[in-house]
Amino acid sequence: ASPLKVAVLGFGTVGSSVARILVDRQPQGLVLTHIYNRNIARKKKDWVPSTVCWTEDIETILSSDADVIVELMGGLDPVAGWVERALASGKSVVTANKKLIATQGIALEKLARSKGAHLLYGAAVAGGIPVIPGLQQGLAGDQVLRIEGILNGTCNFILSKMEQGAEYADVLKEAQELGYAEADPTEDVDGFDARAKLVILSRLALRADLDPSEIPCRSIRAVSAIDFAYAKELDCTIRQISRAEIRGEDLASGDVLASVGPMLVPKASPLAWSHGTENTVLVGGKYGGDVVFSGHGAGGHPTAVAVVSDLISMAHGSRAVDLPSRKTALGGEFLLRHSIR
Ligand code: HSE
Repeated sequence: ASPLKVAVLGFGTVGSSVARILVDRQPQGLVLTHIYNRNIARKKKDWVPSTVCWTEDIETILSSDADVIVELMGGLDPVAGWVERALASGKSVVTANKKLIATQGIALEKLARSKGAHLLYGAAVAGGIPVIPGLQQGLAGDQVLRIEGILNGTCNFILSKMEQGAEYADVLKEAQELGYAEADPTEDVDGFDARAKLVILSRLALRADLDPSEIPCRSIRAVSAIDFAYAKELDCTIRQISRAEIRGEDLASGDVLASVGPMLVPKASPLAWSHGTENTVLVGGKYGGDVVFSGHGAGGHPTAVAVVSDLISMAHGSRAVDLPSRKTALGGEFLLRHSIR
């Protein structure tokens, strides 16, 4: 079969990293053909093959022969309309857009299915940590009863630094400079970013169709040094925690209790393990017990890995990987000696 032609919308931190991985690694069955951005003269890179079409006109992409649109612009307007048009014309879509998937994901999924297209969004929650594919595949055999976790790297960064004595305003500024915060950091600190991610995880894990506006959200702005002092006395810390769990006996139709906000977390809990901008997600299953996912939940390369993984599974089916090409092996003894030193 001919390779899937990939058009990347948005050549920012994540988009350029996706293009870089596609160009460097050349995954089988995928070829980068188009890049859309505003002001492409400023964006062009010499490592992008000359065969790639750069454009500032979205119509060029939507009317192109690209098979998959990788949407990395974010936000709802005008992106939602573009994604809808792409799916309606039978193109598949890979996106990292949590807001779009939280608010319109079910309708877009139905549209994709009706057109024989695919919609994948593994990068929308927890960046490079495979939580979404983990729920869709690895844990599909379990009945998930609860999910709880750190879904916003910016809040985790702020609260971990405040725990060390830093001031809220200073650390927020630092988080913005590092490029992890949303364009409007209110989304991060007041919990709306994490809430959108919780809606997506609840849909996949608990089969719950939650309306983001119905999930109670408390801001981390109210947390102060004295709270950390009390937390420490209890051998706890404070983290922004997103939780959703099924309440009641009837697991198929029981209510879902969901919330986002700063909470006390015992220091021994895996939820206290996340450092800096890392995310951690704990999935509690009826049969398999707890599973913890942890790692880089934001940033260009980790998020791009999730996007490219979605593209690869689109090209090959979820389980397929390139056949091994390495023939050399390092001796175990050599490795052992080094690790002992
Ligand atoms: N602002 C988000 C965060 C980016 O801090 O987690 C990744 O979704």
